[in-house]
Amino acid sequence: MSKVLIIGAGGVGGVVTHKCAQASDVFTHITLASRTLEKCKKIQQSVKELRGVDIDVATLDADDVEATTQYLKDLKPVLVINVALPYQDLPLMDACLAAGIDYMDTANYEPRDEAKFEYKWQWAYQDRYKDANLMALMGSGFDPGVTNVFCAYAQKHHFDEIHYVDIVDCNAGDHGKAFATNFNPEINLREVTQRGKYWEDGKWVETDPLEISQTFDFPEVGDRKAYLLYHEELESLVLHLKGLKRIRFWMTFGEEYIKHMTVLANVGMTRIDEVDYKGTKVVPMEFLKCLLPDPGSLAEGYKGKTSIGCIIEGMKDGKKKKIFIYNVCDHEECYREVRSQAVSYTTGVPAMIGAMMMLQKKWDQKGVVHMEQMDPDPFLEQLAKYGLPWHVKELPVD
Ligand SMILES: NC(=O)c1ccc[n+]([C@@H]2O[C@H](COP(=O)([O-])OP(=O)(O)OC[C@H]3O[C@@H](n4cnc5c(N)ncnc54)[C@H](OP(=O)(O)O)[C@@H]3O)[C@@H](O)[C@H]2O)c1
Repeated sequence: MSKVLIIGAGGVGGVVTHKCAQASDVFTHITLASRTLEKCKKIQQSVKELRGVDIDVATLDADDVEATTQYLKDLKPVLVINVALPYQDLPLMDACLAAGIDYMDTANYEPRDEAKFEYKWQWAYQDRYKDANLMALMGSGFDPGVTNVFCAYAQKHHFDEIHYVDIVDCNAGDHGKAFATNFNPEINLREVTQRGKYWEDGKWVETDPLEISQTFDFPEVGDRKAYLLYHEELESLVLHLKGLKRIRFWMTFGEEYIKHMTVLANVGMTRIDEVDYKGTKVVPMEFLKCLLPDPGSLAEGYKGKTSIGCIIEGMKDGKKKKIFIYNVCDHEECYREVRSQAVSYTTGVPAMIGAMMMLQKKWDQKGVVHMEQMDPDPFLEQLAKYGLPWHVKELPVD
């Protein structure tokens, strides 16, 4: 029996649950727990209708470490798949340690009062997880996640040394709304409004938010302007790629998105500190989240594609070489298959594959582990099989 507990019934949680149900030979018993039971029940019903699989659901506040530990001890899953919010990473890592259960997530921990994307808080668990003979897999989504695995695959099969990496993320889809975010609005806006940062010649270089842009030719989408952002996978990849000279992360945004975001930031609506409103403490960003569309609700009628990958340049057999490893995913196809949009889909599928690698012991290393430290081959084989085919294209070397 491989009993798993999925925590978080949002856009990504829905996809992970459907995908685990699709692989019911591996995930023989699935429980979905989240803060709001109604959301779990909706996913439970959809999984039953579309897959014919029964899952259990439960209410759980993952911020309550004691109650979560007790719940884990009673349920006895072999793995916790954390697809709640980054704020829950540390409480869930604590509960998993106390209950003796393996852990994985799709985004690094963030303190609520500071938009800081760093692994230091989770790396601090390294010895405790090792000593307890447990594994904690970090960031098994698309970016972070598949992008880390693409780099590991390039290092294993294509290069002796990797010098330059550009991770490029394009959502060329249209949801028909003036302004909406494709995953949790609070987390998304915290990420985009922070200062930019990339790594070059052994040092981090900071930029103003969205200061640097460049046009990339995205497979099956074409030319799109992308903005340099700091993204968490850069922090672990600089430690694990041989010979690296520079690594950057780029994401595309439409003009409407940037216009709305700029205005919201200028008027203070993206602030994450408390303000006093008629004697009540309000965090503007949390209030804004209540006003914006739920990312899950964008799925129906969403058209277009995401195109995400890694442009990697380095040396092979004494010669320069450049490749683009990427996946293209169609919003409408995702809706047909699991009633989700492609951003949740491209996160939820790799979360399920990461979990599968752990359950099958194809990935088995104790402690806090990053995706690029594991063998990329079995992961990429299953990724293509479960809905995210990937491709390698040779590019001309400048
Ligand atoms: N690596 C990647 O490529 C990638 C890409 C996109 C997203 N992500 C990550 O995926 C995660 C999920 O994103 P999403 O778009 O699915 O977000 P979402 O739609 O906002 O869903 C989050 C879910 O977590 C639940 N939750 C929040 N606090 C909780 C708590 N204390 N205890 C239990 N459940 C709690 C929420 O419950 P309520 O409904 O009660 O609020 C909600 O169901 C986020 O961490 C996000 O950063 C990763």
